[in-house]
Amino acid sequence: MRRSGAFAALGLALIFTGCKKAQSTPEDLFIENLLSQMTIEEKIGQMNQVSWGDWNEMARKGEIGSVLNLTDLYAINEMQRCAIEESRLGIPVLVSRDVIHGYRTMMPIPLGQAATFNPEIARKGARVAAIEATAEGIRWTFAPMVDISRDPRWGRIAESCGEDAYLTSVMGAAMVKGFQGDSLNDPTSMAACVKHFVGYGAAEGGKDYNSTKLTENELRNVYLPPFEAACKAGSATYMTSFNDNDGIPCTANEFILKNVLRNEWQFDGFVVSDWASVAEMVPHGFAADNKEAAMKAVKAGVDMEMVSGTYAAHIKELHKEGKVDKKHLDDAVRNILRVKYRLGLFENPYFDPEQKVAYVPEHLEVARQAATESAILLKNENRTLPLDEKKIRNLAIIGPMADAPYEQMGTWSFDGQKEYTVTPLTAIREMVGNKVNVIYQPGLDFSRDKDKKGFGAALTAAKQADAVVVFVGEEAILSGEAHSLADLNLVGAQKELVRALSETGKPLVTVVMAGRPLTIGEELERSHSVLYSFHPGTMGGPALADLLFGKAVPSGKTPVTFPKMVGQIPVYYNHKMTGRPASRQETLMDAIPVEAGQTSLGCTSFYLDAGFDPLVPFGYGLSYTTFAYDTPRLNTNQYGKNDVIKATCTLTNTGDYEATEVAQLYVRDMVGSLTRPVKELKGFQRVTLKPGESKDVTFELPVEELAYWNIDMQHKVEEGDFQLWINTDSRSGDAAPFRVIETI
Ligand code: NOJ
Repeated sequence: MRRSGAFAALGLALIFTGCKKAQSTPEDLFIENLLSQMTIEEKIGQMNQVSWGDWNEMARKGEIGSVLNLTDLYAINEMQRCAIEESRLGIPVLVSRDVIHGYRTMMPIPLGQAATFNPEIARKGARVAAIEATAEGIRWTFAPMVDISRDPRWGRIAESCGEDAYLTSVMGAAMVKGFQGDSLNDPTSMAACVKHFVGYGAAEGGKDYNSTKLTENELRNVYLPPFEAACKAGSATYMTSFNDNDGIPCTANEFILKNVLRNEWQFDGFVVSDWASVAEMVPHGFAADNKEAAMKAVKAGVDMEMVSGTYAAHIKELHKEGKVDKKHLDDAVRNILRVKYRLGLFENPYFDPEQKVAYVPEHLEVARQAATESAILLKNENRTLPLDEKKIRNLAIIGPMADAPYEQMGTWSFDGQKEYTVTPLTAIREMVGNKVNVIYQPGLDFSRDKDKKGFGAALTAAKQADAVVVFVGEEAILSGEAHSLADLNLVGAQKELVRALSETGKPLVTVVMAGRPLTIGEELERSHSVLYSFHPGTMGGPALADLLFGKAVPSGKTPVTFPKMVGQIPVYYNHKMTGRPASRQETLMDAIPVEAGQTSLGCTSFYLDAGFDPLVPFGYGLSYTTFAYDTPRLNTNQYGKNDVIKATCTLTNTGDYEATEVAQLYVRDMVGSLTRPVKELKGFQRVTLKPGESKDVTFELPVEELAYWNIDMQHKVEEGDFQLWINTDSRSGDAAPFRVIETI
């Protein structure tokens, strides 16, 4: 098969255009040369992404820039051959797919990956996904999703890195690097697509696709930073979001797409709409028809349209009518060609469909490590965990998630095959062999199952056992896109199952495999130990078996606050103080006398029935060992704006397991020109210590990282008092005060 004709013409282009534009790079020259030869139809073709139709014919006619969901390996190469050899200009087609947390080998869902607080494992996971997906012809993924998600009702929280802008920035940037590798040009690299730009996670009431009302302050200080971090990490593309923010659909938001993305961040890749989000501006009531929608999107800076075909149908006419300029089209096409050029597609448009890289041991190892590090130990009474293989003769394994290979892969597992998934039941059986008698009785067939016919057998198993491990949670389909929930209790009869098991009096370990934080207050109370693993992916079973039997020690931390009840949402650690901040001392409903007189004196901002605390705070996670922190020490207590804060604390492993702790650095800006959050995560480190070992953990925080978008919408560090914590979660520890002054 030939290389792209366009690529073959490059030498000529360099000679001709090279003299005119001495400053231009070979990339610019190549693109300008190609662009100068393109008809308006060919330009519109590049801006069109399709998911069905006669791919080969469209490729031949230059009618498509990209396809998504074409997965037949030989069909991909054939379509590419039609584009390269039979279209007028030989421009390759960009093949895309939602490779969100793995392609064949599934990593934990992104929320689980965020719980590792380990950007390196997220990078490796994305690298594995890229190697496996590119081996099957996919060079563009729609990930990472870096939407700040403070509402567990929203099904897509599963795809996010949780509620925090800093954690999401670090993890999202690591994923971009993993997908894109050292160079986009490497055939194992995929272009990342950071999404959904912007604010999608703030959908009203957690209902997917719903409206958002984020002010510029909220956008700039909370929702935009992870997108900027992904831009700095080199993300080749961006995807607009479905929501309208403050009345403007994000697919036509010129301020975000042009002022922020292009002008401020200098992004030079391309922007794709979300699925039909251009045409959806009609039901939004923002465009009268598809033609107006196309005009608004293209003018706002959406370079490629995903599937709704309004560009293909209307741009030519809009151009003739003078409503869309040549410049709009040329800019969009340039951006698209630039990414194709950087991917090396003109040079190497084909792939070898015979490669066999899926599920290789190195990939399974990354998935296993990620799953191990993503599990969060929420409770461990009487040191019920780890289970002791030597002491346990009979172990009851119960619950619908113990042996659910499909479900444990989680949402967006299009290409992961359940036949390769190792479940906890399989892994535990393999691990204990005939040393422990494993009695498996699921009790329920699937998470939503309400039929309690299996309870009897499950309880009999529990009564015979020395310990009971119950695997509950959500099937994969209950989270993810368009799967929001208004009730976050365990579904089906799982609550009753845990209740009944707890009444046997046996040591009870509850493992939750879910796509979101669930309101598991009762289960936390009734169980001796709770391990929260989200959906852990292909290797979730071996990872959980290792953790349950102490071959690995939990180190995951909550990437999102767990509410006690749905009515507490939104509940997140870095909220504002308000003028009447609540505390743990508030009077709860039951303590209020009958016929109490009404007063608002001394009252604060909290719920009478839910109290002050969430169920589990952000950054929380126990270990089999214990850790002690002392108060952070600062190298000085006054800093100028160009200084670096050096904060140290001594971390000691005070228990008897070697283990890893995620030490977290938080800061509070006491007074600002705008009100400031009560705490903000500014750094974290995973530290491994042997029993009894101590280590000084030092964070170097440039003062400029205390900058925020202030009352004048300028990104500045404001002078004044701050507090700093280094501790085990967002709630613990003593603060060290310091001051920032203009000059020292
Ligand atoms: C819609 C989703 O919102 C987006 O995240 C995804 O990448 C596209 N569909 C393509 O499948």
